[in-house]
Amino acid sequence: MSNLVSELLAKMTTEEKIGQLIQLTGDFFQDGKAAITGPINELAHLKLQTVYSVGSVLGVSGAADVRRIQENYLANNRLKIPLLFMADVVHGYQTIFPIPLGLGASFDPTVMETASGIAAKESVAAGLHVTFAPMVDLVRDPRWGRVMESTGEDSYLNSVMAQAAVKGFQGDSPWDEKHLAASVKHFAAYGAPEAGREYNTVDMSEWRFREQYLPAYSAAINAQAMLVMTSFNTLFGVPATQNQHLLRDILRDELGFHGVVITDWNAIEELVHHGTVRDLKDAAQKALAAGVDIDMMAFAYAEFLNKAVELEPGVLKLIDESAQRILELKETMGLFADPYRGLDESKEKDPEFIRDNLVQAQKAAEESLVLVKNHRRTLPLSQRQNLAVIGPVAQTGDLLGSWSWKGDVETTQSIADALVDTFSEIVTAPGCGYHSFNKQQVEQAKLLASDADVIVAAIGLPSSESGEATSITDISIPAEQIALLKELKTLNKPLISVVITGRPLLLKEVHTLSDAVLIGWFPGSKGAQAIANILSGKVEPSGRLPMTFPLNLGQVPLYYNAYSTGRPIEVGQKNGEYKYVTKYVDSSNEPLYPFGFGLGYGKILLTDMTMVSNSLKMNDQLILDVTLTNDSPRDSKTVLQCYTHQKVGETVRPLKELKWFKKVTVEKQSSLKIQVNIPVARLASVHQDLSTKVDVGDYQVMVGFDSMNLKVLDFKVKE
Ligand code: BGC
Repeated sequence: MSNLVSELLAKMTTEEKIGQLIQLTGDFFQDGKAAITGPINELAHLKLQTVYSVGSVLGVSGAADVRRIQENYLANNRLKIPLLFMADVVHGYQTIFPIPLGLGASFDPTVMETASGIAAKESVAAGLHVTFAPMVDLVRDPRWGRVMESTGEDSYLNSVMAQAAVKGFQGDSPWDEKHLAASVKHFAAYGAPEAGREYNTVDMSEWRFREQYLPAYSAAINAQAMLVMTSFNTLFGVPATQNQHLLRDILRDELGFHGVVITDWNAIEELVHHGTVRDLKDAAQKALAAGVDIDMMAFAYAEFLNKAVELEPGVLKLIDESAQRILELKETMGLFADPYRGLDESKEKDPEFIRDNLVQAQKAAEESLVLVKNHRRTLPLSQRQNLAVIGPVAQTGDLLGSWSWKGDVETTQSIADALVDTFSEIVTAPGCGYHSFNKQQVEQAKLLASDADVIVAAIGLPSSESGEATSITDISIPAEQIALLKELKTLNKPLISVVITGRPLLLKEVHTLSDAVLIGWFPGSKGAQAIANILSGKVEPSGRLPMTFPLNLGQVPLYYNAYSTGRPIEVGQKNGEYKYVTKYVDSSNEPLYPFGFGLGYGKILLTDMTMVSNSLKMNDQLILDVTLTNDSPRDSKTVLQCYTHQKVGETVRPLKELKWFKKVTVEKQSSLKIQVNIPVARLASVHQDLSTKVDVGDYQVMVGFDSMNLKVLDFKVKE
């Protein structure tokens, strides 16, 4: 412990220490305006004195507001301990990047790192110290609205992206004033609610948790994330926020996390609704016992404050430990040296400050868009072609996605406007609403489109339909939009669908009706321009799907890295050929678009692949020399992907697991040699005793450009 922290702790009363453990929204402070992201509680008991001893504020930002609140607070706080300001800066602050699912689709950790670095720089200027990000919850069920906040269904991709995000937000130590502290969330397994229903029960074996869900949190912690946020859900039968096994045994003891643990919004009070505590006091005690340092908006620790005198020595010790961790965080961030660290009103208002950030946001969007169909090379379009841009998403700036509270939808360029800048002639009309359709509107759109060379249908869902508390039971494109596509199809012109979405949707009909399909996600502040650049061919599409797109809803959850079963269905085996295999009688098992899938405009082939040695020891690397050839007349980009499979394991093994990937450009009419290095340690699996280790035995490595079409080589791991 530093001198500063130990001297402060020695001077602090128990009430003041407990104050550090409380987080309130900005509304509690002088004229504070806060982003409200959860239910608001009864506050009657919260006296002014308490406000001037709390440790942190959430949801308020902006240099002027932060300065005013901090000044007023310090004038009233006995020991002059500065407030920490925290908020959800998820995929950008002022400059909005693609949603995290889109950043995952870039399959390029430098894109994530850049996006997080810029988000950090902008939010520090606005007075923030901590972001509630990255969200690294593994997701497999597109009914859950928060899949948009994750980088997808694969634990390796998520781990790589989690590390990149933490590095981007926090920078390298020592701390400078361009970075803030990252709070990895939601610990743990929040992304697996039953039936995709928000806040529902999560239940899985600890073996599965460790195999698939834990690695991304662990990667963020290895990257030195300073905080961890607990999740709303239960795990192993106990809510995460009071789960000692999760928060003490796994997080603190096993993963070696020494930072601050914060709850999600009101999660301590919600323990009462979970029925695992008697009342709020019991909830506060159980959360504290589990090692929760900060109570976000439940007022359970504030309630404690009144009873502080009655506390047992064991509880006082826990309060001391938590207060110490919070003060250490403040010290590490330089708040004692400068409580106004990094905040800068002039930067905040300076268009120059964000100009380059917008360039990066556009690049990120260009890397994240995924072309999933391109029949007879409909794309790229010639800039001389006349375009009709039709659909409910054509003329809107609603392209930022959830958790972009400082982004401005009103001033965000629409897809139609961006296409105007790129193509010679454009006509545009909505054709229908997101969920509404009338004959007159569609006829008007058809009339406009009848003179065009090509129709771009901008379809999908509004941002309000993905994000927190937006679970849905039907992941189809609304019937009204399918009706629009059918009407447009009657014009017999090339039809390109651009799909704006925060989750995988059922796109079978869109696929059939369209000549080309581009998944746009919510692409952010410069997303429309990125879409225009992909459609015109100025930029090569290089995003790949970070989640499987199912063929129908009944397949959900559908993910590529399923385990072997006792009655497998062979690849290519026709449905109905055998009865007693793992299958549906009314559908194929296969998705519409698999994990890792996406097309480019050039044609890159895997023309050679050799293994340096097919017999490896535990400390070795699996090394492959791969040759890619691009015979096409344009430079092209792809994502080379390597998966492995352990043929015989102590526990059942996935059919394939991503272990390595790299985005590469292969110049026209040329070949590129790439060396793949996979440390044998990365082949570790979780055993029955829950230990994680590599087994000796036979393995396969599979290489290709998506998770389904792969070239296979065998190798062995020896003692
Ligand atoms: C969300 C968190 C978020 C918090 C603070 C909660 O409702 O689940 O992800 O960080 O609010 O805004």
